[in-house]
Amino acid sequence: MPENHTNIIDGKAFAAAVRADVALDVTALKTKHGITPGLAVIIVGKDPASEVYVRNKVKQTAEAGMYSLHHDMEENTPEADLIAKVHALNSDPLIHGILVQLPLPDHIDEAAVIAAIAPEKDVDGFHIVNSGLLATGGKGMVPCTPLGCMMMLKDRLGDMSGLKAIIVGRSNIVGKPMAQLLLDANCTVTIAHSRTKNLADEVRSADIVVAAVGRAEMIKGDWIKKGATVIDVGINRIPAPERGEGKMRLVGDVDFEGAVKNAGAITPVPGGVGPMTIACLLRNTVTAACRQNGIEL
Ligand code: GUN
Repeated sequence: MPENHTNIIDGKAFAAAVRADVALDVTALKTKHGITPGLAVIIVGKDPASEVYVRNKVKQTAEAGMYSLHHDMEENTPEADLIAKVHALNSDPLIHGILVQLPLPDHIDEAAVIAAIAPEKDVDGFHIVNSGLLATGGKGMVPCTPLGCMMMLKDRLGDMSGLKAIIVGRSNIVGKPMAQLLLDANCTVTIAHSRTKNLADEVRSADIVVAAVGRAEMIKGDWIKKGATVIDVGINRIPAPERGEGKMRLVGDVDFEGAVKNAGAITPVPGGVGPMTIACLLRNTVTAACRQNGIEL
């Protein structure tokens, strides 16, 4: 990360602070209530990127003092077996959060698997009960990445009432829940996507830009209004011949070098939103453990 900009949001430090906070809550739950929050992570098959994510999730869960359960299932696991595993975890009192790593192999219907997770244990916030609660102002589980983005925005901006926010990307995992959260924070929200006309002008008018399209550096630096806050959710691998033949590097959905000149604050890639997602998964697991036991921390 370049050091000569003071407007860069340090997601790594932010995530470490969230994890430290979670660890304190875990200690309190153990000592005052005799409860150890438990997270089960299921991975099906051998997708290398998923294996890295899952390893990090399992490690950080244990580091926060929680009970961490990891199920590795064969690539050819029948959908019914996976759903049976989810049902068993739904009724396991030691487990408060269940995460089924996506993507799943093609023969498994992801929607059916997510629907099988008890909504109160759905720490990803992907179950339609949780997306419905989010859309109607209820108290469900909030998806980890948008939750992390909101924490960073609130820290930077405080009250966001009346600010104009644009989200580029309309996925169920990031774009749509992000829009709900920004709406709850009294922003005026635009969801832009691949068919949006005059995207540059839409972005130029925004005080808050959340980029979650999954296209390397598509949001140009000169689209960013002076002083705007930019949250880059994208993680894209692009060739980096300057690092040697065949080398790759990670970039976001925003042209960082251009945007950092205009933004009031901006998250880098890597080291921005990414580390916050797992920290928020741990936070959601503690929230789930509290709610399942009628505890307010
Ligand atoms: N695959 C990549 N990111 C995620 C995530 O946040 N949750 C799940 N379940 N799978 C993922």
